[in-house]
Amino acid sequence: MQIHKNYSLKNLTTFQVEAFADQYIRFDRMDEIFGYLSDRPLENHRHLILGGGSNLLFVENFEGIILHPLLKGIEVIKERADHALVKAMAGENWDDLVEFTVARGYGGIENLSLIPGSVGASAMQNIGAYGVEVKSAIDSIEAISSSEQKKVTFDPNNCGFDYRFSHFKGDWKGQFIITAVVFKLLRKPDYVTHYSGVQETVDKIGPLNLENLRKAIIKIRQSKLPDPAEIGNAGSFFKNPVVSDTVLNDLLKSHPDMPSYLQGDNQFKLAAGWMIEKCGWKGKTIGRAAVHDKQALVLVNPGSATGREIFELSEQIKNSVIETFGIELKREVLVVQ
Ligand code: EPU
Repeated sequence: MQIHKNYSLKNLTTFQVEAFADQYIRFDRMDEIFGYLSDRPLENHRHLILGGGSNLLFVENFEGIILHPLLKGIEVIKERADHALVKAMAGENWDDLVEFTVARGYGGIENLSLIPGSVGASAMQNIGAYGVEVKSAIDSIEAISSSEQKKVTFDPNNCGFDYRFSHFKGDWKGQFIITAVVFKLLRKPDYVTHYSGVQETVDKIGPLNLENLRKAIIKIRQSKLPDPAEIGNAGSFFKNPVVSDTVLNDLLKSHPDMPSYLQGDNQFKLAAGWMIEKCGWKGKTIGRAAVHDKQALVLVNPGSATGREIFELSEQIKNSVIETFGIELKREVLVVQ
């Protein structure tokens, strides 16, 4: 366990903006978490549980405690004829887990290849890409209740999973420290290739199998999304809004080429990136913050942007999307201020 005062968070989030925390505590083992919580209940302290930092924007210094569990380990806990259970500790890098499962021929999360972040955070925000959401592969979630200081195991059906959302991000925020996630993966994979461009990219690589599907996803991501190791960003800054058929039909009258995706129940998902591009933001730099030139849904820190500058750019984008389309974009990134 490490405890630091007035600690720089710059290298702990993929946006790479400078912000200091009053206190930063890094845990490498479960017993350290229990030991810490029993000495100092968290209820009376402002605190934030940090994962891979890939979905977080600090707009100012954090007056409180940052808890950073970095528990490591991936193991196959059961292998049956049709499925395998793989347990990954929350501090594992998400893509290392995908690589591990693909190498063993276990299907279910290959479409989520290369998403930045940690295993714990993947469950918290129900990461998704190319037609798959992580919730469909989760068997159980292990956590520590910070108030009761005991282990709890969650059935995924009770976690309120939704589009980039779970109770861990909502009503349960700050109450549980996710320590591990158990995934149920298929030994005869159900390949998901319907998302635009996926099948075509696989075809150029070779036969459809887990390795080639992972390669295709990586190729698509790399062609559109900036690598956080090269340029600060947190993936999509906003969620794609979901609207009714009535709202969509109105929008189509003035914007006939607007993409939309049926979600069931007469609900349609709109492409926020398309709307932001239409408003002229793609590739634009405002001060030290910018909109990615290949994906307008991604805001980037090309070097020395502050969290405030990125946040203000996002507000300007929101306002112009409201003016042009009458749609209010909701942030996917957690803004801490
Ligand atoms: N589009 C544009 N201009 C842009 C960006 C997108 O016109 O600048 C259009 C595309 O041409 C396409 C549509 O918008 O018609 C959708 O674009 P894309 O396939 O790139 O996906 P997205 O809706 O922008 C979502 C997720 C991504 C995920 C991809 C692939 C959200 C908020 N974002 O993006 O997730 O990788 O689909 O499944 O749902 C993330 O959550 O951080 C993330 C990167």
